[in-house]
Amino acid sequence: MHIGSLELDNPIILAPMAGITDLPYRLIMKSFGAGLVFTEMISANGLYFNGSTTRELLKTVPAEAPLGVQLFGDQPQRVAEAIKVVEETAQLIDINLGCPVKKVVRSGAGSALMRDPVRIAQLLRAARQATDKPLTIKMRSGWDSENTNYLEIGHIAEQEGVNAVTIHPRTRVQMFGGKADWQHIKDLKQRLSIPVIGSGDIFTAGDVKAIFETSGCDAIMIARGGYGNPWLIRQAIETVFDQPLSSPSPEERFWVAQRHLKLSLEVFGPTKTLGLMRKHLCWYTRGINNAAAFRLKINQSQSIGQMFMLLEEFFINAGR
Ligand SMILES: Cc1cc2nc3c(=O)[nH]c(=O)nc-3n(C[C@H](O)[C@H](O)[C@H](O)COP(=O)(O)O)c2cc1C
Repeated sequence: MHIGSLELDNPIILAPMAGITDLPYRLIMKSFGAGLVFTEMISANGLYFNGSTTRELLKTVPAEAPLGVQLFGDQPQRVAEAIKVVEETAQLIDINLGCPVKKVVRSGAGSALMRDPVRIAQLLRAARQATDKPLTIKMRSGWDSENTNYLEIGHIAEQEGVNAVTIHPRTRVQMFGGKADWQHIKDLKQRLSIPVIGSGDIFTAGDVKAIFETSGCDAIMIARGGYGNPWLIRQAIETVFDQPLSSPSPEERFWVAQRHLKLSLEVFGPTKTLGLMRKHLCWYTRGINNAAAFRLKINQSQSIGQMFMLLEEFFINAGR
């Protein structure tokens, strides 16, 4: 499939996730074949004011290409300036219109923009003028159930020259509650001529098949379903290409979890890795015997050496 000038090998995309889709995570997901991977949302204001912490989020390596960089902001000029900063790094630029987090909404960005279609048009016009790279948006269904204006926003995006639209079909008020309404993805697909990407509640290969069939979307994003489970990316690709489904052996789980830990160590160093990797290692061991005991130990681990040891011990025992 194509998004503007960018050709993807397959329609399985790693969703942007704040605090999750850092470089090591993206490399793991890429190694399972993701057609496109995304950074977490990055503050346009942070880039505009030259924040070094914000710029760290742009760290990349050629192996993960194509990379989508997602920006959030509410000031058209600053978003345009931020695009100039990320243009060299990104093969695609996405504008966040869906983040429900209070701090972001209060600043007028993320899902708050869904209440201001005129501002969205201004923002997208400025963004479009700033770059020739593929430009996309990611939105929710609307602010609340009385204001589900995704079709209007989709049309605005198309008119302003955006190359594809992703929808996570929940309202801002829903946050992550209830079920994602895939019918909204279908509505959007039927009305727009640019590609539509579906997101929401994809946890199994069965969900992959169902969301494509229900909505007719062009591509999907894997988000929470990929936690400790990059195999979902591989299975999603197998589903799309009608191939038999593979599943990981315990050895493969161990090797991948260990590789993720090593990558994190290389990219972030030991102190940050200790904080970042606890949750990932717990996710990799979910559903396997003695995972609860492992969780307790890993959450108390005080060194990277101990983390490697606990992981190895867990999987040696799991293999018995
Ligand atoms: C921890 C977390 C962080 C997220 N951060 C972002 C983000 O930075 N930008 C964005 O567009 N969506 C973000 N999302 C939303 C996801 O990209 C996705 O649309 C949503 O989780 C629905 O998919 P799922 O039900 O398969 O998880 C985030 C979701 C989670 C769980």
